[in-house]
Amino acid sequence: MCKYISMIPVEYKKPKRVIGWGDYKGLRKFESIYDLPFEAVDVLLKLLTVQGDTEFASIEQHMPWLFHAPKLSDRVTISRIMVDEMRHGWQVIQLLKEFGEEGKKIAENLLWTRMGRHKLDAFNIPFNMWEDTLGFTFLIDRVGLYQLLAFEDSSFGPLSRIIPTMLMEEEFHINFGYTGIKRLVEEGKRDLAQALINKWFPRGLDMFGHSKSYTIDLAYKYGIKRMRNDEMRQLYIKDVAELIAPLGLELPDVNRNRRIF
Ligand SMILES: [Fe+2]
Ligand SMILES: [Fe+2]
Repeated sequence: MCKYISMIPVEYKKPKRVIGWGDYKGLRKFESIYDLPFEAVDVLLKLLTVQGDTEFASIEQHMPWLFHAPKLSDRVTISRIMVDEMRHGWQVIQLLKEFGEEGKKIAENLLWTRMGRHKLDAFNIPFNMWEDTLGFTFLIDRVGLYQLLAFEDSSFGPLSRIIPTMLMEEEFHINFGYTGIKRLVEEGKRDLAQALINKWFPRGLDMFGHSKSYTIDLAYKYGIKRMRNDEMRQLYIKDVAELIAPLGLELPDVNRNRRIF
């Protein structure tokens, strides 16, 4: 278990062969889209579209710092993060292709969507300064980790099998962000660290989506996702609060600068 993820133990469990929750609990997982109930196909397409969009979007955001990060070691880390996100995006595209023409069209769109047109606001914000990389990986990749945890052992077999490696890599990204923020504080740049938290935390909270979501209710019913939006958001708030308190940083008001509740 990673010491920087205090609320949820991340253990990278091997996916099981049966569905773990929802209306189909105890039955064999859906291994092909032809096994999926009709309603579940739609839900999966929606969730995979958002997941894929975030993977490719962050690559564009990181891009400038691949060349301009202050230290060589930082550039190497950025290149590793970009490779990871690219492979995550590629894996989502492989899943989307299973969904025939509709999935292929979505996949094609994902490849051509650029900053400003992404579904989630956090991915439409450029990293204007190097330290944005730290705020983003600390707080936005952390939301990604929660989303992946919600997909862990998903009822769609091919999805459940790509999650463990993704989780491991996300953990690396968020630890890079956390240690970076911690370093800023140690270097006497507390105000900058706080400004980064104030900037990215509201976007992170919004990323969990609406508290009342019919899509997520269906995702739970069909065993695709095991946690609901607000349940994850509350864990995230607690988690971030615990991590920043020892650094002398403050958690912004959870309603400040928010767009999605
Ligand atoms: Fe990712
Ligand atoms: Fe990431």
